[in-house]
Amino acid sequence: MSNSVLIINGPNLNMLGNREPEFYGNETLADVEEKCRICAKELGLKIEFRQSNGEGEIVEWIQQSSENFAAILINAGAYTHTSIAIHDALKGSGLPVVEVHLSNIFQREDFRHISYISCLAEGVICGFGSQGYVFALQATAQLL
Ligand code: DQA
Repeated sequence: MSNSVLIINGPNLNMLGNREPEFYGNETLADVEEKCRICAKELGLKIEFRQSNGEGEIVEWIQQSSENFAAILINAGAYTHTSIAIHDALKGSGLPVVEVHLSNIFQREDFRHISYISCLAEGVICGFGSQGYVFALQATAQLL
């Protein structure tokens, strides 16, 4: 458990590969997962990789996370910019949080410049595409 990381992907990330490739690249979420699995193995981490389009489901995963995980890596997609519920759940979990985004949210629309997660995350990685998940896992390994 001390080396287990819950990786949460929020809404629309199941559409990677088809979705706005200029921002998100051509890889699918399954490709991102595979990249994470290879990286986690090298780092000696165990990962659980999940995606949901539902805010409530993500909140429930976070509420249960401290039983089985030592850290949370999260790309909350659009909920990043809207969800006080996910913010509160992350805070309540007491686990270290690393926030990741495929795109550089600060180069995009103003509404993407606000994150309800960053203020409680140990760190934020954005703009490096799927490689950002690898950087985020490396950072998580350091934290643990
Ligand atoms: C995203 C950025 C968000 O603004 C957007 O809503 C997403 C993906 C990213 O990974 O770049 O769904 O989190």
